[in-house]
Amino acid sequence: MKNEKLQIQLENEFQWFHSHPELSYEEYKTTERIRKLLEEHSIEILDLPLKTGLVAVIRGAHPGPTIALRSDIDALPVQEETSLEWKSKEEGKMHACGHDFHLTTLYGTGLLLKKREKELHGTVKLIFQPAEESSLGALQIVESGVLNDVSAIFGIHSSSKFPVGTLGLLEGSLMAAVDRFQITLKGFGTHAASPHQGKDPIVAAAALIGALQTIVSRNLNPFSPGLLSVTHISAGNTWNVIPENAFLEGTVRTSSAADREFFEKRVKEITDSIARAYEMEAEVNWIAGPPAVDNDGEWIAFAREIAAETGMKAEPGKPSLGGEDFAFYQELVKGAFIQVGTGKTYPNHHPKFQVNPEALSLAAEYLSVLGEKALLKLLERGGSQ
Ligand code: NI
Repeated sequence: MKNEKLQIQLENEFQWFHSHPELSYEEYKTTERIRKLLEEHSIEILDLPLKTGLVAVIRGAHPGPTIALRSDIDALPVQEETSLEWKSKEEGKMHACGHDFHLTTLYGTGLLLKKREKELHGTVKLIFQPAEESSLGALQIVESGVLNDVSAIFGIHSSSKFPVGTLGLLEGSLMAAVDRFQITLKGFGTHAASPHQGKDPIVAAAALIGALQTIVSRNLNPFSPGLLSVTHISAGNTWNVIPENAFLEGTVRTSSAADREFFEKRVKEITDSIARAYEMEAEVNWIAGPPAVDNDGEWIAFAREIAAETGMKAEPGKPSLGGEDFAFYQELVKGAFIQVGTGKTYPNHHPKFQVNPEALSLAAEYLSVLGEKALLKLLERGGSQ
C-alpha cells in the first residue's frame, strides 16, 4: 500500500531534517524549512506569536469539527555515532529521538489531507511544536489558543521497539508525569574533629535519601507504576570540615494525578521530619513538569480500527516512565499518543539511534486517514464543535 512518490519526497526531506538538527527553542532553520515546504503546497499557516515551530491548517470544504495532529521538531545535545550518509552536520547535536521523523510524517500527512480538502468535513490543524525535549514546549502552543476549538488531538512517536508497519496503542497512562525536586539541608558547619559543635547535613542527607526510597517501596500501591530517584548530591569540599549545607536533587515519575500529588506531599513531609530529627532546617523546591500521557480509551480503539483499515499492525503500546509534553494537550482535549514502529534499533536518545525511513509514507497515510475519519466520528457524535 506504499505510496512510492510520497515516500521518495518524504525521504529527501527527512534526510535534510536529520542532517540539520537544532536544539529546543533554537529550531529556526527547521521552522523556516517546514514553512517553505507547506507554502509550496499552498497550505495555510496560522499567524501566531511563536519564535520557533508553527501551526498549519487544512480547512475542509464541508463544515465540521476541528482536530489537531501534533509533531515535535527539536533535537538533542548528543554526538551522532551512526554511519548514515545523512548523519548530523552539527557538532554535538542529533535527532536522536526521531522528531525529524515525526515532523516529516506530519508534513506528508498535510500533503495528503490537502489533496482531500474537498472531501473533508471539518478542519485539521497541524501542530509543529518546538522544544519537546525541554518538556515545556507544548505550553507555548496551548497559550497561543490554538486548541480552543479543537475536539480531539493525536500525536505520534517513533519507537525502536516495533518494526516498520507496526503501531503501539495503549489506553491510559503511556508515559509518566515528570517532576523534579531540589532539597537544601541547612546544617551548621564545624571542624571535623568537633562534630558536637555543628549540625552535620551530610549525615542528615544520607538518612533522607534512604527515607525517600520508602515512598515507592512502602507508600505507593505496587500495582501503580512510579519511581523516585535522587540523581545529584553535593556537600562539602574537603576532608576535615563538616559543611554548612547539603544539596540534593532528583526526579519523581508517576502515572496518575493522585500519585503525583501524594509524592509531592510525602517528599516534603519526610524532608521536613528528617531535618527536624537532625536539628536543622530544610528547603524543598518542587519543579513540576508535564502530567502523565493519558490516552483516551475510545480514541485508542478508533486508532486500532484505522490501523486495520490501512494495513498497519497494532500491538499494545509499550509504557514508560519517561515524560512527554503531549500530556499538556490531553489535559484540555481528549486524544491519543501513538507509537509508530520505525525499526528495531538502539533506543531513543542513544548516539546510534536510527529511524528506518521506510516508515515515513506509511505513517503519513495512516495519520491522514485517522485525521479524516476522526472528523467524521466527531460529526456522528453530534455537534459541529
Ligand atoms: Ni521524543
